[in-house]
Amino acid sequence: MDIPVRPVVAGLLVIGLTAAVLTKARAGGDDYFPPVKDKPTVDECGSCHMAFPPAMLPAASWRRMMVELDDHFGDNASLDPQTAAHVTRYLVDNAADAGGRRYGRKLMKGVAAGASPQRITELPKWVREHDEVSRSEWQHKDVGSKANCPACHVDANDGYFEDD
Ligand code: HEC
Ligand code: HEC
Repeated sequence: MDIPVRPVVAGLLVIGLTAAVLTKARAGGDDYFPPVKDKPTVDECGSCHMAFPPAMLPAASWRRMMVELDDHFGDNASLDPQTAAHVTRYLVDNAADAGGRRYGRKLMKGVAAGASPQRITELPKWVREHDEVSRSEWQHKDVGSKANCPACHVDANDGYFEDD
């Protein structure tokens, strides 16, 4: 396998991922999640990390997250009430169990109705999709966090999380 030769293989940045993982990634399904187009949401939710597609979490998750922004994974991501209301509406309207159902349905497998998980990276289906990524790959200096999707999915900001 010519793994380290090309910087990008099948839409995944090669960071020394194992041959097995890359082979599987190439054969992957069609995982498209409409990217955030709403300007205030891109501005406010895309500054510390990528603006995660709303179809990756259910509406209850976004509602809960948006009222707990003063302690957002240890950061203060608070917004003025007007902006918060706007962003909440956008996220909820396009959530995995609302307008984004068509795209988010698969990722919701194993998530109980009404549950409000706060991490995409802890959804059972997400964990399963990534079970071949090793600890050293997660800890690679160019990755650093599971939430750093674009480190591996080079087209993540356009909504593409696989090869074609
Ligand atoms: C001040 C910086 C900051 C801002 C602004 C911010 N976040 Fe975050 N967010 C974080 C940090 C830090 C984490 C934890 C990242 C990690 O685990 O690597 C996080 C994690 C997340 C996660 C979970 C990622 C996972 O592991 O699946 C979601 C979802 C999320 N943020 C959504 C939002 C939304 C929606 C907004 C806008 C309302 C927002 N964030 C704004 C800092 C921020
Ligand atoms: C360390 C690199 C890495 C990071 C970081 C990463 N992924 Fe992945 N992801 C992969 C690999 C490799 C696969 C292919 C796994 C397979 O097919 O077995 C994958 C598969 C997926 C799939 C399934 C694609 C398909 O074709 O079925 C989705 C959806 C996905 N990732 C979303 C995300 C999201 C969202 C994030 C950030 C919250 C993320 N990934 C972060 C490496 C990564």
